Amino acid sequence: MVKPVTFTFQDVNIDEISTFAGRVAVLVTSDGRMDNAARRVNRLTKGAIARMIEDGLKAGDARVLAYPVGMAAEAVDVICLEKRATQDEARAAGVALAKTRGAANILACLGNHSKADQVILGLALRDYGFDAHKTATPDEDARAITVMATKPDLIREKSEPYLAMAEGAFFTRDLVNEPANVLTTESFADRLVAMADIGLEVEVLEEDKLAELGMGALLSVGQGSDSPSKVVVMKWLGGNAGEAPLALVGKGVVFDTGGISLKPAAGMEDMTMDMGGAGVVAGTMRALALRKAKANVIGLVGLVENMPSGNATRPGDVVTSMKGDTIEVINTDAEGRLVLCDVMHYAQETFQPAAMIDLATLTGAIIIGLGHENAGVFSNDDGFAKSFLKAAEAEGEGAWQMPIGKAYADQLKSRIADVKNVGGRAAGSITAAEFLHRFVQDGTPWIHIDIAGVASTKTDTKYAPKGASGWGVLALNRLVADQFEVTEE
Ligand code: BES
Ligand code: MN
Ligand code: ZN
Repeated sequence: MVKPVTFTFQDVNIDEISTFAGRVAVLVTSDGRMDNAARRVNRLTKGAIARMIEDGLKAGDARVLAYPVGMAAEAVDVICLEKRATQDEARAAGVALAKTRGAANILACLGNHSKADQVILGLALRDYGFDAHKTATPDEDARAITVMATKPDLIREKSEPYLAMAEGAFFTRDLVNEPANVLTTESFADRLVAMADIGLEVEVLEEDKLAELGMGALLSVGQGSDSPSKVVVMKWLGGNAGEAPLALVGKGVVFDTGGISLKPAAGMEDMTMDMGGAGVVAGTMRALALRKAKANVIGLVGLVENMPSGNATRPGDVVTSMKGDTIEVINTDAEGRLVLCDVMHYAQETFQPAAMIDLATLTGAIIIGLGHENAGVFSNDDGFAKSFLKAAEAEGEGAWQMPIGKAYADQLKSRIADVKNVGGRAAGSITAAEFLHRFVQDGTPWIHIDIAGVASTKTDTKYAPKGASGWGVLALNRLVADQFEVTEE
């Protein structure tokens, strides 16, 4: 498992700056204000920082002084960050440090900057590399970042919840990056069970139990695979006793071949990320537990593998969901909704949640519509959707609301069953959402988030190198903080 880099916090000790052997990072403002550390570097380098500023250093700029004479450091990172920087600007400064860092230790001189904790979050989030399967890996345990600050204890305390969020996002990224021969339904469940360590209550429902519950839709997806289907329930009850929880439901298709409606070969390897929804749910639960959120949140994931075989579901089969609705499976590649509908029904029957959010790499159509910039947000409750969009915006995670409606639901009418699992090419992401909507009970505020375009990308994103992004952990964590957390002291 990739762990966020360790931060140690210490008082400002100006003399250490000339002897530190890694990279030294200092902050300056665009109008040339330097704190003690920056001033010391400027003096040691005979005015190099002052010259940068004269050259026109702008807010957001990050410059490197390589092998500065008069210092032991291999480089100095000069970051231009205004005193009143926004959260985004402060995080971007941290991202810049993570990008230039390589394997070097950093002495981050953050002085008394008011957004030092955000710099730390940006650095922690961007400093990720999935090298679990590279044989020659550097000794990552030796990595460290020393934060030098005027009030180190205060910054440490303020940074703690942010480092919990980074660890949650890393957990999601690891799961999403992991290949399907390693992350089977079994090993996925094991990794979730191991979160009992950090105080989550974790329960695994095995196939016999799922059959007993009547989850015929979910089971129909996994029946062609040798890996057993599972539902894992993770409980974090940090809020008021007895208060209805928020339910987070994730699609966990560990590999999606399409089943008998087999996908084309080109790009099929990307379907290792088809458990992205479950990954975000797991990472969010991890972050909430690590920061001991004062909220009741239940994470539920449906773990299955969609494979063709002699026992696989055929196109045309009719299956019965836990709710009782019969479903005509027109296309076995529209499997995510079959998994989610049963887990969503179970979540509502078992926990009577105050609200429910499901996350899934559900449709290729959402990538056509929104690309890799925004996840698609669908909801039966505009107020709830707005709160989520606001949280996502505040965390810099793209999200865009899409419509739903009866006319779209009508595209799912089946000749022989209650509903069919595909609604044709038109509005493919919306008909998928309407399929799920059928399984949402009256009075449950619900959001469906289609993350097919954002869970994993071929290029770097703001806070992550290419590959799994961890999209959603920050937004959901903030939504919980804004809407579900007990606030009175
Ligand atoms: N897992 C895919 C959706 C997907 C596509 C995720 C690309 C990430 C990247 C999903 O199970 C799927 O196959 N959806 C089909 C639905 C269709 C058969 C109605 C699709 O989008 O083509
Ligand atoms: Mn599919
Ligand atoms: Zn899928």
